[in-house]
Amino acid sequence: MSGDAQVFLEMGIGDVIVQPSVDEDIETVLNLSFCRVKQKQSRLHAILEREAELFWRSAHKHFPNLPKMKDGLEEPGIGAKLGRYHEVVSVLNDGKKTRVFLAVDNRTKEPRALKCVPKVCFRTCDEVRRLEKEVATMKKLSHPNVVAIFGETQSSRHLMLLLQFGGRRNLFQVIGSKEEKCLPVEEARFLWKQVVDALAHCHSHDITHRDIKLESVAITDDGTTARLISFGYAERAIAPFRYQGSMPFIAPEVMLMDKSALCATAADVWAVGVLLLEMLLRMNFLPRILGWEKAGMPDNRHAQQVKQLFSGPQQLHRLWDGINPKLRQELAEGDFLTLLTGMLTVAVPERWPVNKVQRASWVQTGSKTKHRRISASYFSSE
Ligand SMILES: Nc1ncnc2c1ncn2[C@@H]1O[C@H](COP(=O)(O)OP(=O)(O)OP(=O)(O)O)[C@@H](O)[C@H]1O
Ligand SMILES: [Mg+2]
Repeated sequence: MSGDAQVFLEMGIGDVIVQPSVDEDIETVLNLSFCRVKQKQSRLHAILEREAELFWRSAHKHFPNLPKMKDGLEEPGIGAKLGRYHEVVSVLNDGKKTRVFLAVDNRTKEPRALKCVPKVCFRTCDEVRRLEKEVATMKKLSHPNVVAIFGETQSSRHLMLLLQFGGRRNLFQVIGSKEEKCLPVEEARFLWKQVVDALAHCHSHDITHRDIKLESVAITDDGTTARLISFGYAERAIAPFRYQGSMPFIAPEVMLMDKSALCATAADVWAVGVLLLEMLLRMNFLPRILGWEKAGMPDNRHAQQVKQLFSGPQQLHRLWDGINPKLRQELAEGDFLTLLTGMLTVAVPERWPVNKVQRASWVQTGSKTKHRRISASYFSSE
């Protein structure tokens, strides 16, 4: 069936049909009917656009953390000027529904990240509320390893957050660019410790991140600073789980949605534990050893496999025995296995809180400063 015919049927034939007469053949009748369908469609489209505009114009009244719509504000795109001071330079990355641009503040020449969400992506008020919450959450946080928010604005087609620029690449991209698909121990410890500090800051403000993964960590271009980003799913610690997180970073009790065991702070700690494994051993380490193809949504089988793998120190030691001896030797100091067991404990009440992770001797070991330049200039490749 042609696209037009499909539309025709979906619109309700009775609504648009032109009654045939003796003088008109069926083809003429259908053409006239399609024509009326198209007219109706474009009228409907105009009504929906107008309705959406009315909604977004008053959205800030219902969602107090959303900005007012600014008339005449340019839509984001390379070269666009946003307000008097900011200019969009290039695309940094895309999220599921978002596009993040590199922008520059023309007063100071400082780089900024501009996270843009097209309004057409919002289907329910709950989704709008989530972005509002992202803004409110970020405003509560202030830490050298958490990306800061400088402002938010609304053009006629986008909601935009102006953020501190965390660097051109996220941790997934940094590790992905390495031949071995992992980081040297010192570099991993140095960057991971900063993620743990960021998480401790969030938890001390009763905020749980709920989507810790390699892509949620921005790395500055000189490789010296890791910053937590992507607070779209962050919630207060006691809030129920509406989103499970991303595989393979999801704790087994969250995979199972085991209500009696769920604890959002503990789930964040599990995720940073898996993050460390990915940084040190190899990205996608768990999916590889557990034979997961492309694990989109977790199911019972994934949860049972993870539970089995981390069911106790002996299993962890067995896993440990399987890794590269040189790496094992490098990790021998500082009681690394105790730390790993503390974070990847299946029994939620026994899992370490993040401040205990921060104090672990392996975390405290190693050089305090490290400077490894990745690229000299933020804008060198423009
Ligand atoms: N402040 C920032 N500085 C540098 N890069 C950033 C910044 N914020 C986001 N990015 C880049 O954009 C990507 C997507 O951003 P973010 O995760 O916030 O979007 P998202 O809507 O949560 O996407 P998803 O739902 O897919 O996680 C990040 O992985 C990162 O590469
Ligand atoms: Mg994200």
